[in-house]
Amino acid sequence: MCAESNKECCKPKIAVDLTAANEILDQYRGKPGALIPALQKVQEHYRWLSQPLVEHIARELNMFLSEVYGVVSFYSQFYTSPRGEYTIQICRGTACHVKGSLRILEQLAAELGVEPGEMTRDGKFTVEEVNCIGACGIAPVIVAGGKTFGSLTVAQALAAIRNFDSGV
Ligand code: FES
Repeated sequence: MCAESNKECCKPKIAVDLTAANEILDQYRGKPGALIPALQKVQEHYRWLSQPLVEHIARELNMFLSEVYGVVSFYSQFYTSPRGEYTIQICRGTACHVKGSLRILEQLAAELGVEPGEMTRDGKFTVEEVNCIGACGIAPVIVAGGKTFGSLTVAQALAAIRNFDSGV
C-alpha cells in the first residue's frame, strides 16, 4: 500500500469475509425499503462499504449495482474508503472556527500523520471535518470515538487523542 492509502487505486483488495454481511442481510431480503437500513447495519459491522460488500449487498437484495451505488454515494453517512477503529470529528462550524478549531484540526492531523478524511496507517483513527454538531456553547468541539470534548485548547485536544491511543 502506498502513502496515499485512501485513494481509490490503493484500497485493499483482500477477500472479505461475508459471514456477518449474510447474517445481517437475512433480516432484509425481500423487504421493501431494506436497502438503507441494510447498508447501515453492514457498515456498522465492517466500518466501511468496500466494493465487494456493495456488490454482495446488491446481489443479495436482488438490486442493480448502480442503484446501490447511487444510494451509497448520495448519503454522506456511507463510507467507501477504509475507516479507522475510532472516528475523530473536528467541528468546523462558525462558532468552533472562531474559537480555534482550524488549529486543532491541523495539530491533530499532524500528530496522527493524516489529512482530514484519511485513516491512520495503523487503522486506529479516521480524522474528519464536520459542520456544526449543535454544541456551539462549548466550542471548539471534537467528537472522538463517540465522546464529545468541548471548550478545548489544542493541548487538551491532543491529550484527549493520546488518551484514546493508550486505551484510557
Ligand atoms: S459550530 Fe461547532 S458545535 Fe456549533
